[in-house]
Amino acid sequence: GAPVEVDVSQVEPGQLIRVEWRGMPIWITHRTPQMLDLLPENRPRLADPDSLVESQQPAYCQNETRSIKPEYSILIGICTHLGCSPSYRPELTPPDLGSEWRGGYFCVCHGSRFDLAGRVWRNVPAPTNLAVPPHKYLSETLVLIG
Ligand code: FES
Repeated sequence: GAPVEVDVSQVEPGQLIRVEWRGMPIWITHRTPQMLDLLPENRPRLADPDSLVESQQPAYCQNETRSIKPEYSILIGICTHLGCSPSYRPELTPPDLGSEWRGGYFCVCHGSRFDLAGRVWRNVPAPTNLAVPPHKYLSETLVLIG
């Protein structure tokens, strides 16, 4: 499939937009400073907090935010368990996800949880972090996925 160009300046703070690349849902989430500040709190709950599984992101996204620009998260929106598409649950304390939730993605199929960097929680069915697709910035706000 052809690469896809997206103007990330259209994504409001806190918002997620979906585009399609190679038939897959791609999520672009504009993380607020508050969302980014909470990422380190998730570390004790995560299976792979340092993104050591190399297949799940390009080397340039093997960092704490799993991104090139911290404010924009770009992920393949497919659960690494059996391929459902998780829901965006940015709320800090949704009653159904428990007091430890700091916002992220929740897969209703079998209950896998991911944080706002797409990092998988421990003890859920999904074995790895959500994948980050190859991408690069063509300008300050134009990103090329693929
Ligand atoms: Fe997401 Fe099973 S497909 S938890």
